[in-house]
Amino acid sequence: MELKINTLTSETFRKLYTSVGWEPPGIGQIRKALENTAAAFTAYDGEEAVGTVRLIGDGGMSFYTKDFAVSPAYQSKGVGTLLIDALENYIRKTISPGWAVSLELISTKEAAPFYQRKGFEERPCDWDGPGMFKMIRSLPNAGEKD
Ligand SMILES: CC(C)(COP(=O)(O)OP(=O)(O)OC[C@H]1O[C@@H](n2cnc3c(N)ncnc32)[C@H](O)[C@@H]1OP(=O)(O)O)[C@@H](O)C(=O)NCCC(=O)NCCS
Repeated sequence: MELKINTLTSETFRKLYTSVGWEPPGIGQIRKALENTAAAFTAYDGEEAVGTVRLIGDGGMSFYTKDFAVSPAYQSKGVGTLLIDALENYIRKTISPGWAVSLELISTKEAAPFYQRKGFEERPCDWDGPGMFKMIRSLPNAGEKD
């Protein structure tokens, strides 16, 4: 298994995203997201991309993990661990000495034990409320995009 950074194409992203049962956005939206991704990590079995995770963030205080998907045939074989370890090491190497930054995500129900084992804390907790999210849609006359 080989780990590569920033090799992910929109087409490969869509394939892996779809492989875990998620409905992907259009290729143009994916391309834009990848252009603005801090780093994309992809695991390869030979030439085949078998898992990926994206890191987004401000580089200073906050990072976010998105679109973590390992192709079903390769799940529970350590690929996810390889990817999240690489992502965390990338942050450690990128930030300045003495800094501590937050790494956040929204877990699927199934993946929660995986993240707990990797040291992520759940919310709500005694000292903080739940994470929240909201979908924002384009304006009605914004024109069609792919
Ligand atoms: C979550 C995911 C990225 C982890 O990758 P992975 O390669 O399976 O992870 P590892 O092999 O390093 O670790 C496997 C462990 O993660 C846990 N796990 C996480 N997601 C799981 C899932 N969907 N099904 C079963 N186990 C899962 C299990 O505890 C598993 O331990 P086990 O192998 O002893 O049963 C991968 O399972 C996946 O793509 N799942 C579907 C999409 C998803 O839920 N992504 C998370 C988005 S927040």
